[in-house]
Amino acid sequence: MLMPSNRPRFPVVLENVKIRRASEADLQQIVKLSEKLGRDESAMDSMVSPLPSEFQNPNWILKNIKGENAAVFVAEADGKVVGYSLGWISQPWSYKAKRGYICDCFVEKAYRRRGIGKTLVKAMLEWFRNKGVECVEADIYSNNIPSLAMFKGLGFKEVSKRLRLIFESRQ
Ligand SMILES: CC(C)(COP(=O)(O)OP(=O)(O)OC[C@H]1O[C@@H](n2cnc3c(N)ncnc32)[C@H](O)[C@@H]1OP(=O)(O)O)[C@@H](O)C(=O)NCCC(=O)NCCS
Repeated sequence: MLMPSNRPRFPVVLENVKIRRASEADLQQIVKLSEKLGRDESAMDSMVSPLPSEFQNPNWILKNIKGENAAVFVAEADGKVVGYSLGWISQPWSYKAKRGYICDCFVEKAYRRRGIGKTLVKAMLEWFRNKGVECVEADIYSNNIPSLAMFKGLGFKEVSKRLRLIFESRQ
């Protein structure tokens, strides 16, 4: 018997927040949020520069908004973009099937703890599922407690640990 699907259909409307696919018109606001994400990551990782990188490059973000194998979702509240998620599909060397990768998920501080981050990730998961990927991955810093809790709450499991040695002369 076919059971009715309880999967979300996008756009989703939380209380006063709309989650939808990003369009080119959202680009500048997404760039600003991605700059904040870049600064957060720099605060969590001494190897990451606080200066904007290719990840904040408007052309790169636009490529993801428009790409066939990439997607950007935004959360819109109070007439502005207050959060976004960005990911793509690829088949990394040695993988036996297509993998979805969530590169970014960011919510403005004033809008956190309302379920927006989780819904932005769920939007990506639904999109990946419809594209036939077999698994979805994200790299999360070990000290990023909110993000780890969010991804684990959605069913993600730890599969590896990245080790790093920083030469003393460079510290
Ligand atoms: C991680 C982030 C996206 C979460 O966004 P959010 O909208 O606040 O998250 P949600 O309200 O959807 O919460 C989802 C779950 O995350 C966890 N969580 C969120 N904030 C948390 C916190 N401060 N402490 C502990 N757990 C937290 C909880 O498990 C929560 O589920 P619950 O509400 O049922 O308890 C947000 O904190 C953020 O933008 N952080 C900075 C950027 C970042 O680190 N991004 C992740 C790497 S790309």
